[in-house]
Amino acid sequence: MGSNAKQASIEIKDLKKSFGDQHVLNGINLDVPHGQTVAVLGRSGTGKSVLLKLLIGLQPPDSGSVRIAGEEIIGLDPAPLNQIRKKIGFLFQEAALYDSLTVEQNVDFPLSRHTALSESERTNKVRELLSSVDIAREEFEKMPAGISGGMQKRVGLARALALDPEILFLDEPTAGLDPITGEEIAHLIMELKKQRGITAIVVTHDIRAAKCFADLLVLLDQGNIVAQGTFQDLRKSKDDFVVKFLGDGARTNGAKPANGAKKPRNGE
Ligand SMILES: Nc1ncnc2c1ncn2[C@@H]1O[C@H](COP(=O)(O)OP(=O)(O)OP(=O)(O)O)[C@@H](O)[C@H]1O
Ligand SMILES: [Mg+2]
Repeated sequence: MGSNAKQASIEIKDLKKSFGDQHVLNGINLDVPHGQTVAVLGRSGTGKSVLLKLLIGLQPPDSGSVRIAGEEIIGLDPAPLNQIRKKIGFLFQEAALYDSLTVEQNVDFPLSRHTALSESERTNKVRELLSSVDIAREEFEKMPAGISGGMQKRVGLARALALDPEILFLDEPTAGLDPITGEEIAHLIMELKKQRGITAIVVTHDIRAAKCFADLLVLLDQGNIVAQGTFQDLRKSKDDFVVKFLGDGARTNGAKPANGAKKPRNGE
């Protein structure tokens, strides 16, 4: 095993999770090599968010293995798990900002907890992070409830980036954003990969965004990975579900959607 290639790799083996008699994940296998970005796509309720929560040890799986940078995290004690989590930036689907802290304080939170930076260094870093996700100065002092959903998402992303993580797990980073901001976020994810060699798993319904930043796209359905490949691979697929799923988002400008692409999808 080459040690460098392992640096921030993610290896998922036969990961299973049920809630009562509902089988949500039926044995997920996925390797994300260091420096790669994987987009996880799938209909609403297929277990995408559950998968991310298992990957950071927020919920235990029923069985299976998750290795982060070569280290098994399933069953790990809280102290070593927290050490690994410091390398990981996580954006929850619902942004999950601390509602009693201002925008600025939210992004400062991981810095004040986990770094030895001075207050002015932290202030600079927070401002840099917020401007990288296009949050204007006048929003800094506001409480999360006082900013829009799209802004909350971007503040959550700034917070996820605060500790310069080697790994990013993002749950719907562009959902609820207007197309222009969504595209900016997609580019930001791509830049993070290019400039910092970040390894990422990004859950998204946004196929255009995935096309922009993902090395590999993975399509989940009913607890299984039913297709994976580059955007071009998937677009060539004749599989009915893949064709339907890619639908409009896979169209090149002016092209007609593939047959059946108009079928409504849940939760969008
Ligand atoms: N803590 C929980 N207890 C019971 N059931 C749960 C729990 N968390 C998730 N589920 C169920 O697991 C299934 C998958 O949920 P999940 O949130 O992962 O879907 P998703 O693919 O992220 O959907 P969406 O695209 O709408 O965000 C759902 O049926 C959900 O109700
Ligand atoms: Mg979800």
